Amino acid sequence: MSNRLQHLAIIMDGNGRWAQLKNKPRTFGHVKGARVAKKMITHASDLGIKYLTLYAFSTENWLRPQDEVGFLMRLLERYLIKETENLIQKNIRFTIIGDLNRLPTGVQKQVQNSIEKTSKCTGLQVCFAISYGSRQEITRAIQKIADLVHAGKISANEITEDLVKKNLMTGDIPDPDLILRTSGESRLSNFLMWQAAYSELVFSKVLWPDFTTQDFDDCCKDFYSRNRRFGKIDAELSF
Ligand code: IPE
Ligand code: IPE
Ligand code: MG
Repeated sequence: MSNRLQHLAIIMDGNGRWAQLKNKPRTFGHVKGARVAKKMITHASDLGIKYLTLYAFSTENWLRPQDEVGFLMRLLERYLIKETENLIQKNIRFTIIGDLNRLPTGVQKQVQNSIEKTSKCTGLQVCFAISYGSRQEITRAIQKIADLVHAGKISANEITEDLVKKNLMTGDIPDPDLILRTSGESRLSNFLMWQAAYSELVFSKVLWPDFTTQDFDDCCKDFYSRNRRFGKIDAELSF
């Protein structure tokens, strides 16, 4: 049986290096990167993928120079202002994970607006990880669960994996089947660490601004060729 790609998560990496190779400022790479993100969202939607999570800005990315951070925030805002109608047309639902409170107020409002306007869309669910960090997400889940225990709503031995999962920002959506990272780096950089327990990992050498729908399809093909055992042996897996 071939694998089912229900949830694809992408670490869109390499914008800065792409620009530097062209002797342009890093921001030039982010602009091209945003265009590629737009193209891949449409492609995933056309392929009937149900969930696409895009790592757009990490909790650690706040430590970059202020100019770059400000540029990325404005780019996100502009993208949402321009694209929300298109998302609705394509029946794509926009969601986010991350610490929204740290974003500039205008960006927060636009994010909220796009979430609301696309909330009835039933096709692809595209989730932007913005100001997202897996350690922060897990820490917050622990805090919420500790509050439940403290309030006497549950006892410590009622803390299950399922309860932890439900208290993560990804809530009820399934774990990613495939996590893809571009630009040749082979690490997760604080992305979906709980959820990645049994994800297939694909690392592409292509820098994100150069990433094409053909590269996308090649990565999917790689995924479909994998044997996902989830700790079992082949004979036990249901075919
Ligand atoms: C990914 O590209 C985009 C963000 C992290 C916002 P980078 O900006 O990390 O580009 P490189 O990795 O420095 O080339
Ligand atoms: C990860 O890329 C974050 C995003 C793609 C948004 P980084 O470029 O920030 O990660 P490191 O620093 O190479 O690990
Ligand atoms: Mg990078």
